[in-house]
Amino acid sequence: MTVAAAPVALPRNDPRQYDALVGQWWNPAGTFAMLHWLAASRAELIPLAARADALLVDIACGGGLMAPHAARAGYRHVGVDIGRVALALAATHGVHVVQGDARALPLPDSCADVVVAGEVLEHVPDVDTVVAEACRVLRPGGTIVVDTIAATLFGRLSAIVVGERLPGGPPRRLHDPALFVDRAELIAAFARRGVELHLTGLRPPVLGYARWLVARVRGRSGPALSMAPTRLTAGLFQASGVRPLLATAVPAAPSATGTAPAARAATPAAPSHARLEA
Ligand SMILES: C[S@@+](CC[C@H](N)C(=O)[O-])C[C@H]1O[C@@H](n2cnc3c(N)ncnc32)[C@H](O)[C@@H]1O
Repeated sequence: MTVAAAPVALPRNDPRQYDALVGQWWNPAGTFAMLHWLAASRAELIPLAARADALLVDIACGGGLMAPHAARAGYRHVGVDIGRVALALAATHGVHVVQGDARALPLPDSCADVVVAGEVLEHVPDVDTVVAEACRVLRPGGTIVVDTIAATLFGRLSAIVVGERLPGGPPRRLHDPALFVDRAELIAAFARRGVELHLTGLRPPVLGYARWLVARVRGRSGPALSMAPTRLTAGLFQASGVRPLLATAVPAAPSATGTAPAARAATPAAPSHARLEA
């Protein structure tokens, strides 16, 4: 008698988890529903393309949910992701796909008019390297938009303890809270590349989300929701900035104690719209 082997659970945050979820990307009532709402919020920060061949680079594009937004704003859309299964799906939505790691983008310097990195920084151990790569491929004067989850108790509660149990939120074990993003370090990482980052918190609208849940329980697709901006950046947050035309670092906040450079990396740049609540 042969005994079937039990499926081996992948470790937390293992990107191979997305392969089995490929059918969820474009399901508006599925486990990636909130990614659709976040893509729409990201799109609001993207300027309309200023010329015919303007390029938007989508770091960790997944199944290509930015595709309609990039097209509407007039961009050619190049998506880079580590997962080949999601990339194949993104290609069917018109994304020019490139397999690669966010920490070593297989793209030339200054090729992008816009760079977006949606819901990926919280999956990558080395955020500074991803920021460096994002700024490298962004042309001077170009816009960068990121959204991610803050490394706070509230971030862990909302994304893991609650979020992984609610429909429309991420599946269990997709996140590793140890990788959630320190906002001050993110601001400083961009400041070192001359980009002043502006942060806004995001949350689903309470009533709209309740209606969406009811519709889902009844087996229907709920209404597409718009994420609501909030001053609280301690959970899900969005950030954007512009690469300066001249290569100048945004000065970090002065240190009263002459902090060593490594420690200073965690100092927020000033000025910034960021509110770094606990
Ligand atoms: C939560 S999904 C976000 C997808 C897409 N940006 C969106 O918002 O719809 C995270 C994506 O990051 C990708 N990813 C994880 N680690 C990566 C890495 N080191 N380099 C490139 N992609 C990565 C995964 O394959 C997955 O598609």
